[in-house]
Amino acid sequence: MNHKVAFSFADGKTLFFEAGANELLLDAALRNGVNIPLDCREGVCGTCQGRCESGQYTLDYVDEEALSAQDLAQRKILACQTRLQSDATFLFDFDSSLCNAAGTQTVQGVVTNIELVSRSTAILHLDASANAQQLDFLPGQYARLKVPETSQWRSYSFANRPNSRNQLQFLIRLLPDGVMSNFLREQCQPGMTIELEAPLGSFYLRHVDKPLVLVAGGTGLSAFLGMLDELAVEGGRGHPVHLFYGVTQDADLCEIQRLDSYQARIPGFEYQAIVSQPSEQWQGKVGFIPEHFDVERLQRRSFDIYMCGPPPMVEAIKGWLDKQQLQKFTMYHEKFIDSNSR
Ligand code: FES
Repeated sequence: MNHKVAFSFADGKTLFFEAGANELLLDAALRNGVNIPLDCREGVCGTCQGRCESGQYTLDYVDEEALSAQDLAQRKILACQTRLQSDATFLFDFDSSLCNAAGTQTVQGVVTNIELVSRSTAILHLDASANAQQLDFLPGQYARLKVPETSQWRSYSFANRPNSRNQLQFLIRLLPDGVMSNFLREQCQPGMTIELEAPLGSFYLRHVDKPLVLVAGGTGLSAFLGMLDELAVEGGRGHPVHLFYGVTQDADLCEIQRLDSYQARIPGFEYQAIVSQPSEQWQGKVGFIPEHFDVERLQRRSFDIYMCGPPPMVEAIKGWLDKQQLQKFTMYHEKFIDSNSR
């Protein structure tokens, strides 16, 4: 049985290919035109070193000069000695351009729906099934969308997981005056075509071996919807998942029913919606996200924390984490500014 492989690089690009059962990872990469740097091919020089972010594997020979026991415990691998036992994702600490392979695709998506999901947010549904191949991306990554009849591109995280029908979703904040926002409000109709470039970004769900804390600010929720879709299909990965979802006003909250549905489909999943400037009708949590972290729970054991939202939110949470006496944790984050950059 073949295994699906994703190679992610320091420049945020990701390359996808298939490896045969028991095939060496390096051989599979080279066969698919992904020419990662190599030298000895014998597990000695360490040139083909990467880290397994998710999936199961075995290693043939690894010289201790190439990888230490600590490296191995951190799931570092040598591609020339790695054999896969499942689909897997690997991170390499150099740019994809070194591999002499093109990872990002440009495809056409046909608008099937512009779904208004809150006062300030829409989900853009695109059908990219005219593309013969599945558009591969890792849940949490993003795409650049070209605003039709302009030269402007805007970046949005996928709000669902990759699928063979190439049905794509993006959670988009509708700004009072933004080029994509104006297009969606005033011109966009089902049947129109939008060009997109993907996959992009190094924010994606890694190997899960400890509890997850997910922190979404506003439409930063989009990346987590993709990750949670993935976890829901898998029935979770055996560890609790706690999402903190912060917005400015309660009218900005969206996809609450979808979050409720994950509670039934992902064992150990819970979430809190937190509003910083609530209306009189709001009866839920109020304030900023760190005020609602359970410090004792976070102190009890190590965890992975993923954050996606505006820079002030990410910086505030990093500052809060610095001040706590916490067990070891690993942090991944994606900052974005609503207008056009991330
Ligand atoms: S190429 Fe030397 S360790 Fe893989």
